[in-house]
Amino acid sequence: MPTQNFNPQSVLVTGGAGFIGSNFVRTLIERRPDTRVTVLDKLTYAGNLENLADLEGQYSFLRADITDAEAVRAALQSRDIDAVVHFAAESHVDRSILGPMVFTHTNVLGTHVMLEESRAAGVERFIHISTDEVYGSLGPEGAFTERSPIDPTSPYAASKAASDLVVQSYIKTFDFPAIITRCSNNYGPYQFPEKLIPLMLINAMNDKPLPVYGDGMNVRDWIHTRDHSLAVLRVLEAGAPGAVYNVGSSNEWPNIEIVKLILRVLGKPESLITFVKDRPAHDRRYAIDSSKIKRELGWEAETDFDAGIAETIAWYREHEDWWRRVMSGEYMEYYDKQYANR
Ligand code: NAD
Ligand code: DAU
Repeated sequence: MPTQNFNPQSVLVTGGAGFIGSNFVRTLIERRPDTRVTVLDKLTYAGNLENLADLEGQYSFLRADITDAEAVRAALQSRDIDAVVHFAAESHVDRSILGPMVFTHTNVLGTHVMLEESRAAGVERFIHISTDEVYGSLGPEGAFTERSPIDPTSPYAASKAASDLVVQSYIKTFDFPAIITRCSNNYGPYQFPEKLIPLMLINAMNDKPLPVYGDGMNVRDWIHTRDHSLAVLRVLEAGAPGAVYNVGSSNEWPNIEIVKLILRVLGKPESLITFVKDRPAHDRRYAIDSSKIKRELGWEAETDFDAGIAETIAWYREHEDWWRRVMSGEYMEYYDKQYANR
């Protein structure tokens, strides 16, 4: 098992002002204080420099769009980047149903620009953060392995799958040292309140209805974002160029059970649960087999789910100013479009 085969000196983190990206930047700074960290982010509705406020002075920030080749080139050259960790994406399935085009633009074209500029700049490691959603939906048994067929259903998942294929073409055609990770559903602090867990817990705190899609029996496999970040760091330092690694913590929950758990912890009544019209092409079940990363890189998720959820709920309780700010303006327009008439 390799302990370390790559020692990055200057890392560019795209999407580092988002939910998982900002958690990864925190992990990188804690674990590798001598590594130079540059965050490149467009600051879309989902990007927020407040997510990195506790790390001020420990990273550099460039506001740029990953589809802008010149800006990406300048960033790679001026910071002497030897590794890219590529989180930047449009990430929300429901938004990809309401307005799909930006998903292809950012996730496919943006990833292609990042790859091409990184190749030209001689970047030595490119970690492409993908998702288990590229594999589509599972029946009641089994789990996705790295060899499962790519079979995406939503425009979001299709754009991630397409970007994975562009990454794989660079690995094969140019021997480009990229690595793909595919992780399951993340939870934790700083998650934008469009996603299931923060949305439900903020609505519950405000005694608002909790909109559960369909019969609530769709299953997701939840991992704390700190564990995901540690997996990405391990892949950066020790992963095999050209490889794909699934990342998960074998923690499957039907949505309705997550929602009831949140209500229990908050001491709120189940009468807040409202079943609403299902998401189109709603994937029934995700479950991730992460035995490869455990076996080859020695990574394993560490966070106990009950403790992780309790800590996450406490974080949202203590950071009302954060979520009130991100839930203003554009968010309310999205919320009305998404949940009206369902
Ligand atoms: P997020 O929506 O919270 O953050 C996305 C970040 O990317 C934001 O900071 C945004 O400003 C930035 N961004 C968007 N478009 C950009 C552009 N054109 N140029 C530069 N920056 C841009 O997303 P997240 O949940 O943190 O997900 C991060 C990555 O992890 C994504 O690639 C996603 O597909 C993947 N992923 C997410 C999960 C999950 O459960 N959230 C699970 C597996 C994989
Ligand atoms: O599996 C990894 C993926 O997980 C990531 O690639 C995506 O970026 C991330 O957004 C997430 O996708 P999901 O669609 O699984 O996450 P979301 O939080 O949107 O929904 C989780 C489940 O909860 C899903 O079955 C839909 C359901 N849901 C969601 C919302 C927002 C509801 O029932 N009601 C809701 O209001």
